[in-house]
Amino acid sequence: MNKGKMINSRLFTKNPRFSYLPDGDKYFLASDEPKYKFNVIGTGTMGQEHIRVTMLEGRATINGIYDPNEGSVVGAQQQFAQFSDDELTVHQSLEAACMDPEVDGLIIATPNYTHIDLVKKAIESGKHILLEKPIATTLEDAYTIYEIGEEYPAVFQIGLQYRYKPTYRETINQVMGKSQVVGDIKTVSIAEHRVPFLDKVNQWNKFSEFSGDTLVEKCCHYFDLLNLFADSRPVDVYASGSQAVNFTEFEYDGKKSDILDNAMVIINYENGVRANFNLCMFAPMFYEELVICGDDGYLKAWEKVDFLPQSSSGTGIDILRADESPSLRITPNYPAPIERSGHHGATFMEHVDFVNNIDGIETPTATALEGLWSIAVASAAQESIKTGQVVKVNDHLADHKIEI
Ligand SMILES: NC(=O)c1ccc[n+]([C@@H]2O[C@H](COP(=O)([O-])OP(=O)(O)OC[C@H]3O[C@@H](n4cnc5c(N)ncnc54)[C@H](O)[C@@H]3O)[C@@H](O)[C@H]2O)c1
Repeated sequence: MNKGKMINSRLFTKNPRFSYLPDGDKYFLASDEPKYKFNVIGTGTMGQEHIRVTMLEGRATINGIYDPNEGSVVGAQQQFAQFSDDELTVHQSLEAACMDPEVDGLIIATPNYTHIDLVKKAIESGKHILLEKPIATTLEDAYTIYEIGEEYPAVFQIGLQYRYKPTYRETINQVMGKSQVVGDIKTVSIAEHRVPFLDKVNQWNKFSEFSGDTLVEKCCHYFDLLNLFADSRPVDVYASGSQAVNFTEFEYDGKKSDILDNAMVIINYENGVRANFNLCMFAPMFYEELVICGDDGYLKAWEKVDFLPQSSSGTGIDILRADESPSLRITPNYPAPIERSGHHGATFMEHVDFVNNIDGIETPTATALEGLWSIAVASAAQESIKTGQVVKVNDHLADHKIEI
C-alpha cells in the first residue's frame, strides 16, 4: 500500500491494542507485508537483538536461525514469538542457513574469531550480508574481509551502529551537516566508562585470541567514530592500558583471561586533527562522552545509564558557540520502544538502513573499508600498549603486509 508521505510510525502498526480492527478498516494502521526475509547466524545477545529489531522495523522478517548452542536457539525462538505466530526455521548447519533459498539476507552475529570463516561461507550465497563488528580479530583477517566486502555484488554492511545512537547521530548532523556548529574540527575526545564485559557463550570475550582484545572487540565503535569526525587518515597512535581489575582471576578451560580493562589512546590524523579515547571498564554504570572542539565552537555529547533510584540517566548535547551564533542544549532521543529495542535504538536505525541499502537507497552505514580502519587504529593502539612506543600506522600496516 502506498500511503504517500504520511507519517506511518511502525510503532502504531505494531501495537496489539489495534488488533480488533478488521484488516479492511486499517489504513493509517496498516502494515505492509515484509518485503525481505533474513536468516540470523549466531543468536546470542546480539543475534536476538537483530531478530527483535528486524521484526519491529517490519519491512523484513526473520525466516530462520543457525546456532549450535541450544539455549541461544530457544532464546531466539522466544524473541521471535513475541512478534509472530509463524514458525522459525532452525537450521542444522551453517551451509543450510547460508544457502536457504527462502531468504534475501544473512545477519552474522557470532563471536569475533568466527567472522572470517563465516563470511567466506556466507558470500557463496550471494545474499545481502550484515556482519557484526569487529569485522575480524586480526589485521590480516580484517584486510581479507575488506577485500571481500569491496568486491561483493550485494549489500555488505558492517554492524558499527554506534553511528546511529541518538547522541552520535545528532552530533554528526550538527558538526558535519549544513550548520557545522563547531566550524573546522580540531580535537575529538571520547570516553567510555562502564561495567565489565558481560558473560558470553563459551566466554569468548575474556580472551584476546577470540575477541581480538578489548580495543578491537568493543572500542572499534569509538575508533570508527573518531575516524569519522576526523575525516582523515590516522598517522600515529600512542596508547597506555592494562588489565587492572576485571577477570584477573578468571580462568576458562584452563586458560587465564588476558584482556585490557582500561586504556588511554592518542591519535594524530593526517589533517592535523588530534583525538583521544579513554576507557574504563570497572565503573558502576554505562557512560559515554564525546567532546569536539573546532575553530568556531565546542560540542559535548553524553549518554548515561547509572542504575540509581533518582536516576540522572539520559542523553544530552551541549553546543557552545562563539559570539555570533546561539548556543544549544539538546536532548536527542528516538521513540521509547525503539530505544528499548537495544543500544538506544541504534540497531533499529541500522536495520532501517540495511533495508534501504537493499532497496538501493544511499545510506551512511559503515563499509568494509571503515570496518578495516577501525581495526587498524585499535590494533595500532594495542601494539603501542605492548611496546610502550608510538606506533606509525603505515609501518604497522606494512608489518602486517597491508597497504590501504
Ligand atoms: N554492534 C554492537 O553494538 C554489538 C554489541 C554486542 C555484540 N556485538 C558483536 O556481536 C557478535 C556476537 O556477540 P554476542 O554478544 O551476541 O555474543 P554471544 O556469546 O552472546 O552470542 C554469540 C552466539 O554465536 C553462537 N556461535 C558461536 N559460534 C558459532 C558458529 N560458528 N555458527 C553459528 N553460531 C555460532 C554462540 O553459540 C552464541 O549463541 C560479536 O561479534 C560481538 O562483537 C556487537
